[in-house]
Amino acid sequence: DSEGHAIERQEWSFGGFTGQYDQAQLQRGFQVYQQVCTACHGLKRVRFRNLAEPGGPMFPEAAIKALAASWPYQISGELDDQGNPIDRLPGPADQMVGPYKNDVQARAAQGGALPPDLSLIVKARTIETHAPWYSHWFHMLVDVVTGYQEAGADYLYALLTGYHDAPAGVTVGDGMYYNTAFHGNQLAMPPPLIKDAPVEYQPEAGVKATLEQNARDVTAFLAWASDPTLDTRKRLGWQVMLYLLITTVLLYLVKRKIWSRIE
Ligand code: HEM
Repeated sequence: DSEGHAIERQEWSFGGFTGQYDQAQLQRGFQVYQQVCTACHGLKRVRFRNLAEPGGPMFPEAAIKALAASWPYQISGELDDQGNPIDRLPGPADQMVGPYKNDVQARAAQGGALPPDLSLIVKARTIETHAPWYSHWFHMLVDVVTGYQEAGADYLYALLTGYHDAPAGVTVGDGMYYNTAFHGNQLAMPPPLIKDAPVEYQPEAGVKATLEQNARDVTAFLAWASDPTLDTRKRLGWQVMLYLLITTVLLYLVKRKIWSRIE
């Protein structure tokens, strides 16, 4: 449209009624997150041990311990025996904190802009995309049936791949970058993924590391972060439907038997 709000629908393994996360993709996405996004963002609602849980990247427990201990940022705000504030290395039960202790510090470091915590960003953008629609339950149903639960993931992918030169006549503000997906087309986040230097996957992941692949994988990882129980929920949903179906058939047969002698 006139704002150049270009967000295309993407295929996601976790889309639709039966979709599930792709574990290998979540592992790759974590690598992108760790190597790029942590420089500015936090992921406070994810604890290191969550990375080992079913339905997620499922890194081995031993790797999680090492990962937490080698995290570039310390856990702060706790007190020692004397009541003095201390910083300490994170363990598996700690949050995947970002570089800043609070928003004031973050803004000071980022020229006034605030890099949001990314724990819920995919879910938040999904809901915002739909907010005007959700005023009516019917519209929500249409969205769910047509699989549009992935709006936030589509947006994040479009954002990460949406950096371009500004069209002629458009002035980009100081410290701002032109992006076709962002509302208003200018944001303070420098392009995090680089076309000529994509994050290489370790070990060799069987997919080619490109900017688009990085964007797709980190988006899947952040989709998991904001909805870690999606796999279980969808599986349980189908089991419940199957159970109810069988129950319905049984009740029908019982009813026929009980009433069989009545004309
Ligand atoms: C904003 C994701 C890396 C700095 C954002 C937003 C998202 C995001 C989703 C919010 C956009 C919105 O409001 O809709 C990511 C991801 C990264 C990444 C997935 C890694 C691939 C970085 C890095 C920096 C950074 C490395 C710092 C150099 C910022 C800033 C904002 C922001 C300052 C606020 C922008 C504004 O409000 O104008 N990021 N980011 N991000 N990010 Fe990042």
